[in-house]
Amino acid sequence: MIKKRVALLTGITGQDGSYLAEFLLKKGYEVYGIYRRGSTDGVFDRIKHLAGKINLICADLTDLSSLEKAFEKSMPDEVYNLASQSDVGVSFKVPAYTLEVNYFGVERIISCIKKYVPDAKLYQASTSEMFGDVIETPQTEKTPFNPISPYAKAKLQSHEAIERERKKGMFACAGILFNHESPRRGIGFVTRKFTDGIARIKLGLPQRETGEDYLELGNLNAQRDWGFAGDYVRAMYLMLQQDKPQDFVIATGKTRTVREFVEIAADSIGIKIIWKNKGLKEKGYDQNGNKIIQINEKYFRPNEVRLLQGDATKAKEELKWEPKTSFETLVFSMVKEDLKRLK
Ligand code: NAP
Ligand code: GDD
Repeated sequence: MIKKRVALLTGITGQDGSYLAEFLLKKGYEVYGIYRRGSTDGVFDRIKHLAGKINLICADLTDLSSLEKAFEKSMPDEVYNLASQSDVGVSFKVPAYTLEVNYFGVERIISCIKKYVPDAKLYQASTSEMFGDVIETPQTEKTPFNPISPYAKAKLQSHEAIERERKKGMFACAGILFNHESPRRGIGFVTRKFTDGIARIKLGLPQRETGEDYLELGNLNAQRDWGFAGDYVRAMYLMLQQDKPQDFVIATGKTRTVREFVEIAADSIGIKIIWKNKGLKEKGYDQNGNKIIQINEKYFRPNEVRLLQGDATKAKEELKWEPKTSFETLVFSMVKEDLKRLK
């Protein structure tokens, strides 16, 4: 009997982990995933439909002994390190913890691979946030990094660790992924916060965070290159199927402002936003004159990445990877799922 290939995923309870687990199961892998014990319900919400199909191990990126046990139990052929403190804004508030998980956690994963499965292949979740105050547009694998958040600085250190190990012979790749979203996106990120918020407005429900009947947002002028998470996990898998390990930019190539995202999402359920005033006093009204958006300074960051736009030509040529889902389809699916859930 042919032995199934074994994949170990950190961050399996997160957005990408849930899509990647589904993808690898369809490819016939035996899937192991690391989860943290949560103090609240809902940790397994994104993977409850996979119960019985995946093997879950309780471990934490900050705890080497727990990771060693996970490796000893799973003995993976492929390791996908998706776990991180993934919120850029929060990283300014907890910089030391962010470094502990997002950089030292990666060093712990590397040491486990060396100890238990030296021939295993490693995928590391690097990020477009490392381009920071961007030096050129669009950004490619050759664009110099210029990180400006504790999150991005920690991710750059782990990105460099991957390069170091690759030079020493490990099959280690980093995907430099641009923002990718889905109905399973964490509720604190701007896209999901807005699709949840506008669905509440449509249904006459109070906002999740404030209890108000309008939504509070931060910088509407930031530009991001947004794709669909389900498309991006395919690229992670493809990187580990190549003959030699390399890093790849994964992006759609198109950039849009937060304001555009907000307008398209609202429009998809018949709400036309009319903007009045500028800066911190700016507000958004619906066609009936009801205030639905207000700016709150607390959502601004001490340092803001103003513009991200990726060039995924290398992935297209070498991985034969291209995004399949349009921006509009992505936005509509997120709004639709939030409406369905809240109803
Ligand atoms: P996510 O939904 O926030 O998921 C993060 C995962 O990491 C969760 O499963 C979380 O577990 C886990 N985690 C956090 N701290 C941990 C710790 N100390 N030990 C073990 N697990 C821990 O993130 P995502 O959007 O799926 O992103 C996946 C990865 O790609 C992350 O590394 C992120 O930084 C990176 N990335 C994301 C994007 C994007 O646009 N989504 C773009 C570029 C790079 P809990 O469920 O217990 O919180
Ligand atoms: N979160 C949030 N909440 N962001 C807001 C808000 C708000 O109320 N209002 C405006 N924004 C702006 C942020 O200032 C930022 O410019 C933009 O919306 C996107 O913010 P997020 O959705 O939090 O994502 P991010 O770009 O900071 O980080 C995501 O993408 C990175 C890849 O570039 C995360 O997924 C990171 O983990 C990932 O590495």
